[in-house]
Amino acid sequence: MQIRNYKDQDFPRLVGLLKATNSYYEPLNTRENLKRKIGRDPNSIIILEDDKKLVGTVFIIYDPLCSFIYHLSLHPDYQKRGFGKKLMDEAEKRLKEAGIKKPTLFVTEDNKGVIDFYKKRGWSVMGKVFDMKKEL
Ligand SMILES: CC(C)(COP(=O)(O)OP(=O)(O)OC[C@H]1O[C@@H](n2cnc3c(N)ncnc32)[C@H](O)[C@@H]1OP(=O)(O)O)[C@@H](O)C(=O)NCCC(=O)NCCS
Repeated sequence: MQIRNYKDQDFPRLVGLLKATNSYYEPLNTRENLKRKIGRDPNSIIILEDDKKLVGTVFIIYDPLCSFIYHLSLHPDYQKRGFGKKLMDEAEKRLKEAGIKKPTLFVTEDNKGVIDFYKKRGWSVMGKVFDMKKEL
């Protein structure tokens, strides 16, 4: 089991993983967007690999004002084996090293069950938000 940074060649396997965990969002998760993201922040997409299989990921959105953890996903065959914890440990470590003290993450209304996973790690619920968007 290996934790490493995402590379452009991972894209098809990463999309497969995000689809398998219901985390794929086509308008944002394009190959070009991810390439630009790692071009700016090479440490911002973490991959968990098992024997050449891409089995987990977590994205970090670095910003000095408000940083986010996004797209934490473990392939269903690899859930409940401590790997989600491992990926969150790594993401939180990287944020801390970057001087970020209060990161944020979102849980969607239909995935409330996962809140307990984060609470176990010391995260707390701040409030409900409405996810709004606009085409620019
Ligand atoms: C949520 C997710 C990342 C958890 O990863 P995981 O590898 O299954 O979790 P772990 O095995 O590392 O569990 C760590 C701890 O959290 C607990 N836990 C895991 N999933 C949980 C859940 N859904 N509800 C409550 N507790 C949970 C485990 O029992 C374990 O507790 P312990 O340390 O006391 O033994 C994984 O289930 C997943 O990818 N789900 C689909 C995508 C998703 O919903 N992502 C979150 C987006 S906000």
